Amino acid sequence: MIRIDTKYLGSFLERMPTGLDEEVSKAQASLEQKNCKGSEYTGWVELVDSIDENLMAQMTEVSNEIREKAEALLVIGIGGSYLGAKAAMNFIGGDFPVYFLGQNISSHTWSQVREALKDKTFYVNFISKSGGTLEPALAFRFVRTLLEEKYNEEWHRYVVATTDREKGKLKGLADRLGITSFVVPDDVGGRYSVLTPVGLLPLLCAGVDVRSLMQGAKAEREDILSGQSDALQYATIRNALYRGGKAVEMMVTYNPALNDLCEWWKQLFGESEGKSSQGIFPASASFTTDLHSLGQFIQDGTDFLMETVLWVEKENEDFEIPRFDEDTDGLDYLAGKSLNWINEMASEGTMKAHLAGGTPNLKIIVPARDARSLGALFYFFEYACGVSALVQGVNPFDQPGVEDYKRSVKELLVKGI
Ligand code: PA5
Repeated sequence: MIRIDTKYLGSFLERMPTGLDEEVSKAQASLEQKNCKGSEYTGWVELVDSIDENLMAQMTEVSNEIREKAEALLVIGIGGSYLGAKAAMNFIGGDFPVYFLGQNISSHTWSQVREALKDKTFYVNFISKSGGTLEPALAFRFVRTLLEEKYNEEWHRYVVATTDREKGKLKGLADRLGITSFVVPDDVGGRYSVLTPVGLLPLLCAGVDVRSLMQGAKAEREDILSGQSDALQYATIRNALYRGGKAVEMMVTYNPALNDLCEWWKQLFGESEGKSSQGIFPASASFTTDLHSLGQFIQDGTDFLMETVLWVEKENEDFEIPRFDEDTDGLDYLAGKSLNWINEMASEGTMKAHLAGGTPNLKIIVPARDARSLGALFYFFEYACGVSALVQGVNPFDQPGVEDYKRSVKELLVKGI
């Protein structure tokens, strides 16, 4: 179960706007009853109630084939079509190489990925709900040339498509060539899709225990429904702080294995809330590294920040600080102490200092760096995000701003400047 610790919110905790709890309860009810804004995209809410065994068997068969026949998987996708899988691989690890492409329009990136893959056998999982997004579509053109060089007319047998059930260019190509395909459910938007084939297929390929991931998400949902989860409290606190002038939420990690999770979280909250000239801006920092760059600003700069520390309770590794005869760095008092304990003290000390400087700190505690905890965390954030955006009065499931920029870029590409 995901827990939150409010110790370092200090007096901010006493300044909760009246009526906010009721607003959160109303938002939750509208999400569950499917009469909220964007209700046609709330399929992710109950998706975790049971595992679709048929789908799981199909995905397992395809991932086994990839793991047996190839040396690597290349995932092509952008935004909600890759961030969840990448976050999970960063958080848990895996035992099979997975590369990512289609997240930018950089020649340098393509040259690096091509170099990494040119002497390897690999499969491609092209993930795009719309099938027409510029970055992954361009990437696929380059990758297709590489596949054709390697596998000649058999190239399409090394492609798996994850896309819309019936529309879009990728769906058309997959049907024409008989490419193995998985469906992004109609009622699940990109940034809420990590627990569908969008995230699950690459994770199966990577060797991640996706059953435990799903079980963790299901358990978190059950906790939410029985009032045991802190997800709604998280939604409440961040909105209370926002109304008190904290317009930026900085997600902070003390382990780089959580950094890609912050990228996933930023998309989830940024695209869900940032509309109609409002919303909490989601930012992230990796501590203690960034304390030596952003620390000054957080402690002492513009007063618009709330900080959310994402903390793993039981880490997978730990080390004792070595002792030497000479205390050259003056740190002998730490010899024999655990590195994880020092990291924890660094986080506690930093939260204390930042609170004193006017930045409230919330701590989100994840039990362990394993699949079950991650599934719970994915669901915790998705649910809190849906509720939080509804409290702010916006549709959590559309992204009109993204569509605007896509249109503007396309216009230039077609007509030129
Ligand atoms: O959350 C979203 O819906 C977006 O970020 C999309 O995931 C992103 O734009 C990619 O779209 P598509 O999967 O259609 O290529």
